[in-house]
Amino acid sequence: MAKEKLIELLNRGLELEHQAEAQYLSHATLLSGETADALTERLEEIAGDEHKHAGLFRKCIEMLNGTPAIKMHAGHPAKTNGEILSVNLKDEREAVDFYRTIIAELQNCRAELKYEYEYIEHKLRHIIMDEEEHALELRTLLGE
Ligand SMILES: [Fe+2]
Ligand SMILES: [Fe+2]
Repeated sequence: MAKEKLIELLNRGLELEHQAEAQYLSHATLLSGETADALTERLEEIAGDEHKHAGLFRKCIEMLNGTPAIKMHAGHPAKTNGEILSVNLKDEREAVDFYRTIIAELQNCRAELKYEYEYIEHKLRHIIMDEEEHALELRTLLGE
């Protein structure tokens, strides 16, 4: 059933958000040098967005009568400021790619989602827009 597949994908998204929040908060403690304070503040702010995204995924899963995941996707360690920004930029881009596949699956089961489609679609677009903004910020911080 397409709905079950969709719940599974939304839960994978939720696990990615659990990871993203934890990873940004961990990396925020590891920064060094003159720009460390400003970077820490930015990573903590982004972590706050990821926390909100997890909440949005849970609401979407609830809409479909699914059970939200309590697991976390495996994180990506990094040490230097540059590594931290690069690793997270890669994760942001992968999140955008993956969330687009969820939207595609959502469109596949639109007929089954008479009273849920727009709600879930709107939340997913909101999350993707945030991730694109995070990617832009990381790119700027990296000087790319
Ligand atoms: Fe996110
Ligand atoms: Fe993000």
